Amino acid sequence: MMESFAVGVTTGTIHDIETLMQHRFKLWSEVSTRGADEILARIPAYTEWLRAGIEKGCVTPFIARSQGTVAGSGCVWIRDVEPKLGLSRFEEGYLMAMYTEQHFRRQGVASAILQAAIAYLRERGVERMTLHSSDFGRPLYEKFGFGDTTEMRLNLK
Ligand SMILES: CC(C)(COP(=O)(O)OP(=O)(O)OC[C@H]1O[C@@H](n2cnc3c(N)ncnc32)[C@H](O)[C@@H]1OP(=O)(O)O)[C@@H](O)C(=O)NCCC(=O)NCCS
Repeated sequence: MMESFAVGVTTGTIHDIETLMQHRFKLWSEVSTRGADEILARIPAYTEWLRAGIEKGCVTPFIARSQGTVAGSGCVWIRDVEPKLGLSRFEEGYLMAMYTEQHFRRQGVASAILQAAIAYLRERGVERMTLHSSDFGRPLYEKFGFGDTTEMRLNLK
């Protein structure tokens, strides 16, 4: 019989910065084609950005734990958008940095984080949630009803 698996999700604080930093490093290492040196070099700036966002209150981390062990994490960034049709408040919840530790995958960890993040945004009256998906994340987000948008991108350097 399969052992039962319970995962709890809580909002994180500045004290979780080390975990979030490690997860960001692992995430980039798994999904990016950039080299390890470039990834490592970008981590301090990312950590400072995260710290500032948490302190200002616009970035909220979510930490998933199973029996006290960190299983995964993700962050929600509530950011301003221009006045748009269909939105009464000009902000969106941007989901980012979703990462599940390898040996906890396919056990509902990211789903639990996503559920908590959606509830958090709803409670705050945020009307839209967006994200950029990796290939790994796409089936998860589709399961929750996320759809494609028309975003395009041009790199200028
Ligand atoms: C994407 C990621 C966060 C998913 O984490 P997870 O905890 O394994 O996800 P869940 O167990 O909650 O999966 C929920 C559903 O998503 C889908 N899914 C998740 N991983 C999948 C995979 N490898 N292949 C196909 N479907 C997958 C399934 O529908 C799954 O439900 P099911 O197991 O009942 O079929 C994890 O694979 C990861 O950290 N990947 C590397 C970093 C990354 O790409 N992060 C996302 C950035 S946008």
